[in-house]
Amino acid sequence: MPLPVPVPPDGVDPAWLPPAAFRPLGSRRILIRGSGPLVDTVHGEVAEACARSEGRVVRGPGPGAAAFDLVLEVDGVGGETFTCGRRDGTTTVTALGGAGLLYGLFHVVRLGEEAFSGEWAPETHRPALALRMLDHWDNVAVHPVMGQVERGYAGGSLFWADGRARGDLDRVRSYGRLLAACGINAVAVNNVNVHETEAHLLTDRIGEVAAIAAALRPYGIRTHLSVTFAAPMVLGGLPTADPLDPAVRAWWAEATRRVYEEIGDFGGYVVKADSEGQPGPFAYGRSHADGANLLAAALEPYGGTVHWRAFVYDHHQDWRDRTTDRARAAYDHFVPLDGEFAANAVLQVKHGPMDFQVREPVSPLIGAVPRTRLAVEVQATQEYTGQQRHACWLGPMWSEVLRFRPQGPEGPSVGELAEELVAVSNAGDDPFWTGHPLAQANLYTFGRLAWEPGADPHRLLDEWIGLTFAPVARPTADGVRAVLDGSWRTYEKYTAPLGVGFMVQPGHHYGPSVDGYEYSPWGTYHFADRDGIGVDRSAATGTGYAAQYAKPWSQTYESPETCPDELLLFFHHVPYGHVLHSGRTVIQHIYDSHFEGVEEVEEAVRMWASLAGLMDPARHARVAERYEEQLRSAREWRDQINSYFFRKSGVPDERGRRIC
Ligand code: GCU
Repeated sequence: MPLPVPVPPDGVDPAWLPPAAFRPLGSRRILIRGSGPLVDTVHGEVAEACARSEGRVVRGPGPGAAAFDLVLEVDGVGGETFTCGRRDGTTTVTALGGAGLLYGLFHVVRLGEEAFSGEWAPETHRPALALRMLDHWDNVAVHPVMGQVERGYAGGSLFWADGRARGDLDRVRSYGRLLAACGINAVAVNNVNVHETEAHLLTDRIGEVAAIAAALRPYGIRTHLSVTFAAPMVLGGLPTADPLDPAVRAWWAEATRRVYEEIGDFGGYVVKADSEGQPGPFAYGRSHADGANLLAAALEPYGGTVHWRAFVYDHHQDWRDRTTDRARAAYDHFVPLDGEFAANAVLQVKHGPMDFQVREPVSPLIGAVPRTRLAVEVQATQEYTGQQRHACWLGPMWSEVLRFRPQGPEGPSVGELAEELVAVSNAGDDPFWTGHPLAQANLYTFGRLAWEPGADPHRLLDEWIGLTFAPVARPTADGVRAVLDGSWRTYEKYTAPLGVGFMVQPGHHYGPSVDGYEYSPWGTYHFADRDGIGVDRSAATGTGYAAQYAKPWSQTYESPETCPDELLLFFHHVPYGHVLHSGRTVIQHIYDSHFEGVEEVEEAVRMWASLAGLMDPARHARVAERYEEQLRSAREWRDQINSYFFRKSGVPDERGRRIC
């Protein structure tokens, strides 16, 4: 039986699955062979596309395949792999399982007319990373400071409203469909900071999670849950959460058994422990491996996984203390534990050592735990990259991370070392899903990069444009590409310079405040004085962080002479007159890049205005409105940063531009 395609509520943007994107497929004669729930999903998709475009679909063994333009068949025992080829006028997708068929279908949608022209030998597509996951930082109860979605810039939660799971989950079904179309196969439905209400999702409120899981399942998405390490105390009334205590172990085993009673394909737990105030094993003198293995043991009988976050650092640092370096923390905590984690425990590591800044080096932890399963975490929600008021397409940044080779040019890339890629979701109940319509490109690119970490992100951007604006005319495609392509670097230019990071307003993290965190306990300092700026993280004279890398990176980063310009202030404290590889001094680079960044935003604003009339007016208007704010904010960044450093250094701009 075909499963009907979910219908999002009126006024919700179709994102990268507008009906027009299905037209080439929907006008064909299509045969579907196979059974199972995901094949029913595929059947529903195809049936709807055909009903709209006068195609025809047959399900079953069917007459000879030659009578069809497209054959979608399952031939295997399961899995996500599919093969697609075209011969004698028939395109064939052969998948190992229902999930593979679903991904094969969306592959055909992406190809459009191309899927039905010429001939080509069968090509096999399989995801490089087994788990491609979104972590939602959604709260069930509105948090007094963080609201419904922590660091959410796209309205309320897709899953939770009025203190409970939404009754109407059609929007969640549509969301699952969008995610499947870019290859995502797992979702964690609540915030890693697990507050009182949310703790109960694990036990007495698991039914609400089960309802969400049921809505996502038809699109091949497994549901995960963030849990508090203190659950045995908070929920079970035990006097301790000590991971080695038998009563604690028994409590987790029983709680987990009940979870699987409700959700047979439950993915597992996500845990933020001993981090920013969350409880963890340190309270009992136990290690993070002890903590992770406790939950891994509870999940193991059911095939579940624990995602244990490596974001552990001292957030009560004394800013006067120049020896503690937050960047070192994840490596220092977790490298000694390599080899101690259970087989179903995955260490989830932020891509950089600090916190999702616009520019950070790749976390040295990623290359340093060969006996630990790794998930790399990126942030699609734009906490530090413009909060979905600024256009900032992060594909090139993520791609650089995934292609980085921590053990040197001959070693494996991050995309090869990681088994899984996780993004903090940028989606919410906003009509455009992501607040800024162009931020949809981040979600899409993330999913596709998780499937194929070596992919050229610009190709993925073109895919997104082709689908979202289907049928896309040349000027629209060129215009949208022009405003997004370099938008990450543009954002970098007008914000904190040369990898130094932060300089954001404390708390909400939007807009400039050069010294906002300079005398705070958070460990995020730039150390600017009248002579220079930057953090000395060298082994010779600094915190020793650079030595956490394998060669050649430890050497590259150790010296300001070899350190790449864009990371110079992350690794070194240098005088304003220090000459970069670009030939400019640091201070002149700061001035130039900030003027340039704003000019690039002005150019993007003009380009966007020229696209009026070429797309859905609501989408155009929403982006135009965001650009107004981006331009205002970029100017504010430029002027605050330039004035700050002009006043500190006393060095005038070589080009005599106005700096107050
Ligand atoms: C950042 C963010 C927090 C979040 C934390 C995390 O610090 O500002 O809101 O909880 O990352 O990743 O756990």
